[in-house]
Amino acid sequence: MDNGKEARPELRSGRRVLITGATSGLGRGMAVELARRGCRVALTGRRRDKLAAVVAEARAVSGAAAGAACLELAGTVTDPGEVRRQYARVKDAWGGLDWAILNAGVADSMDAREFRAENYRWTFETNVLGVAHWLEAVIPDMVKAGGGTIAGIASLAAYRGLPANGAYSASKAAVVTMLESTRVDLAGTGVRVVTVCPGFVKSEITDRNDPRDMWWLLETQDGVRRILRGIERGDRLVHFPWQLSTFMVHVAPNIPAFLYDWLVTRMRPRSKRPYADESRR
Ligand SMILES: NC(=O)c1ccc[n+]([C@@H]2O[C@H](COP(=O)([O-])OP(=O)(O)OC[C@H]3O[C@@H](n4cnc5c(N)ncnc54)[C@H](OP(=O)(O)O)[C@@H]3O)[C@@H](O)[C@H]2O)c1
Repeated sequence: MDNGKEARPELRSGRRVLITGATSGLGRGMAVELARRGCRVALTGRRRDKLAAVVAEARAVSGAAAGAACLELAGTVTDPGEVRRQYARVKDAWGGLDWAILNAGVADSMDAREFRAENYRWTFETNVLGVAHWLEAVIPDMVKAGGGTIAGIASLAAYRGLPANGAYSASKAAVVTMLESTRVDLAGTGVRVVTVCPGFVKSEITDRNDPRDMWWLLETQDGVRRILRGIERGDRLVHFPWQLSTFMVHVAPNIPAFLYDWLVTRMRPRSKRPYADESRR
């Protein structure tokens, strides 16, 4: 969806791109695609074995591309000190970034009848503060350089409170408004801020859902293609697929609460499987 375009920023050979959460799903897909195009990619994630495998894959596909390079930055987005150290490594290697794709995220369902504040803390530390830590790191240098693109991966779940996913919906709503305020503040500096709201895309997050709860589920590569194309087109907001985004962005926010509650109570998701790797929780 196009909501006001800016100068067309292309992800081409030599571009210096950070992708947080590159060990699986959309982040991994973007890392490999951008390496294939010859971009320099700095990749983060906590699972060292998976990160090493993605870095190896990125190096293999970019083999022939001029200017390609890959930085392996194992660690968490939840620790501001660690994020500062990771960014320092990027600056040492490349002097800065042209693009920062803030993608790392988690999701776990919780019915409010078994409310655990810890679920909110964990989700917000990753999905919201993880983005904020990276914004703090990259904004000053991008503003100084007079250019750069920051893309945050939010979700269509941001637009209304989804059943059994309060922490996730609330965290993504926070990401949407955080990025909007950041975009307004950075207007005129040359730094673009893009908010990306995907619908359902195959990944380790959605692998744990019951397939019957996911409408218009996209293949990972299709999601990757739509995200990169939307950002490159110069859009401020990237929403997809149109069937779900029309409902979540334009219809759902205008439905009165009684009607929304009636409708969504009937759409309560089936149970979500826990993370296979408990250390990710
Ligand atoms: N798939 C969808 O349908 C969908 C829809 C809307 C929005 N999104 C958003 O898209 C983004 C990517 O998710 P995905 O669907 O591709 O799921 P995924 O396969 O589970 O990928 C999530 C990535 O985030 C990383 N991550 C999680 N916690 C982290 C932490 N504390 N520090 C650093 N990295 C961390 C994970 O790596 P480690 O575990 O190795 O750290 C992994 O690389 C998320 O922000 C998600 O909310 C996804």
